[in-house]
Amino acid sequence: MMEQHKSLLSFNTFGIDVTATCFAEYHSVDELLEIIKTNTCDRILHVGCGSNLLFLNNFDGLVLHSAIRNVELVKETSEEVVVRVGSGMVFDDLISYTLKRGWFGLENLSLIPGEVGASAVQNIGAYGVEAKDFITLIELVDLRTGEQLTMSNRDANYAYRYSIFKSKELWGKYAVTHVHFRLKKRLEMNLEYGGLKSAYEGVVSNASNLDFSDQTIEQAMRLRQIIIEMRNNKLPDPKVLGNAGSFFMNPIITRKQFDDLLVQYPSMPHYPVDEDHIKVPAGWLIEQSGWKGKNLGRAGVYAKQALVLVNLGGANGTDIVALSDAVRRDVKSKFGVDIHPEVNFI
Ligand code: EPU
Repeated sequence: MMEQHKSLLSFNTFGIDVTATCFAEYHSVDELLEIIKTNTCDRILHVGCGSNLLFLNNFDGLVLHSAIRNVELVKETSEEVVVRVGSGMVFDDLISYTLKRGWFGLENLSLIPGEVGASAVQNIGAYGVEAKDFITLIELVDLRTGEQLTMSNRDANYAYRYSIFKSKELWGKYAVTHVHFRLKKRLEMNLEYGGLKSAYEGVVSNASNLDFSDQTIEQAMRLRQIIIEMRNNKLPDPKVLGNAGSFFMNPIITRKQFDDLLVQYPSMPHYPVDEDHIKVPAGWLIEQSGWKGKNLGRAGVYAKQALVLVNLGGANGTDIVALSDAVRRDVKSKFGVDIHPEVNFI
């Protein structure tokens, strides 16, 4: 059903108080096709729960939201399963659903905000794992023509927080209605990311003696719990303090630039990407630039994690952008490094 002048407060975790001229939620592909047929708005925006959006103005157009939330088992072997998941399912609910059934892989993504459809667009990631590692197929509907099509993982051109759906050509063109994930029946815990191994070993006192061939749902659930606690300790709850998780992407710089910076900042944390490129944490760059815990009017840099910008109460999109610009300018002048928002400005 089409609603007019709908508040988007519950569709953006930044808590920006804007409206959409028209709003519609669909529960099936048929319902979506019906909405597309009757739509008269020029602009269409498809949202998930809005955990990666920053509204700069009221949205003059149609905002769509998926309420397709079913999970179907489409393939099962002794080694793995493939599930087809509705785009409106909360991603963390999918993690809990699959782990309970002994289908492993998504545990490191626990508590990432957002819905399944957006996970395939944004290639969400945390603790050494990305959505693209599990996605096999994406089902789409063209928002103008209603044409239904699928895209393979390979064709989606996945990279760090990137897919072809974020390219100039395809941005806003499709609704993701379902995503297929391939998951393993054998748990291969990924503890490589900083802090995870020691946190896990701290909880499981005899972790070094664990027989990792005896892999259980309990182990995966324990890891999930640790990740949930780590996230809760570092990231603000959007219900308390509006935010969109990491506001910036971690910049990838050349080895030459990195080597030069390392001379000046020997303790700079870093992760190799390939032979010639290094990823540097934007949170560290921002903290070193003096912005951690500081604010510009109603927009702030979160005190426990400088990568997160927060709405201190009543901020609008322009306030957040002003802070983002100031932070980017200072990081650039101190380190010569450009940092770019991960959040999409609307
Ligand atoms: N750091 C600082 N100061 C800060 C924040 C971080 O010095 O204020 C340093 C940390 O000490 C650490 C390094 O920066 O050495 C990396 O920090 P952290 O492990 O917290 O991860 P991140 O790079 O800040 C990324 C993702 C997060 C994801 C975590 C864990 C991006 C943009 N962000 O953050 O994703 O949860 O790793 O895997 O890649 C999100 O996308 O919304 C998100 C939260």
